[in-house]
Amino acid sequence: MNNIEKGEMLYEGKAKKVYRTNDRDKFIVEYKDDATAFNGEKKGTISNKGIVNNKMSAVIFQLLQDMEIENHYIEVLSDREMLVKSVEILPVEVIVRNIAAGSMAKRLGLQEGRKMKTPILEFCYKSDELGDPLINEYHIEALEWATKEEIKTIKDYTFRINEILSVYFLEKNLTLVDFKLEFGLHNGRVILADEVSPDTCRLWDATTGEKLDKDRFRRDLGNVEESYQEVLRRIKG
Ligand code: TMP
Ligand code: ASP
Repeated sequence: MNNIEKGEMLYEGKAKKVYRTNDRDKFIVEYKDDATAFNGEKKGTISNKGIVNNKMSAVIFQLLQDMEIENHYIEVLSDREMLVKSVEILPVEVIVRNIAAGSMAKRLGLQEGRKMKTPILEFCYKSDELGDPLINEYHIEALEWATKEEIKTIKDYTFRINEILSVYFLEKNLTLVDFKLEFGLHNGRVILADEVSPDTCRLWDATTGEKLDKDRFRRDLGNVEESYQEVLRRIKG
């Protein structure tokens, strides 16, 4: 495990770079400070975001592994880098919503902050050009983005993750409003991948309702860096 060498860059996304290593079963993920919103229309940087997202994702992935949710995390290598299992990411984003906010509040004309009776699960097709359009399970199966069995695994994992993380964040006085997950195939099995961070979760202070996530950047609310640091401080504390 200690003789890992960083190889060629496989992929550069909006917030991360992924590298091959000398071990074909392992990749290195490097978290960037770059931030985008509205399909890359709005661009900026959030100082030290890469460090926060790397550390927070590591804590959350470890917690989920302890709860037997298989994921790509292996270990943290540096401030901005983690070693992960190599995966082929499925072209589907999985969104869970506990409270109405963001694009769903807009689409359905709901008041942001409305608590739903049960969590809502949405799928989007992962395509920047198309703006990650909303899809359903039939699209995923018919277009062979995942099999019926893989979709079932993803849904089971996702609802369990929501239960685990909602309780976990509430202990940190944070409300888990909604979040996005990505899954990948590792040796033919579906496992959780990508990241879990204030970029991919809406987190509100449970007492005041203050937004402590990427919406501060998306909506120009100020104190962006401070909010990311505050989330990490609560998770570490
Ligand atoms: P939305 O309300 O904008 O659709 O976002 C739902 C959740 O998904 C929210 O927690 C933020 C996260 N998300 C991402 O991680 N990446 C994205 O590209 C988008 C649009 C949302
Ligand atoms: N990261 C996404 C983008 O730039 C959007 C978002 O997180 O709001 O498209």
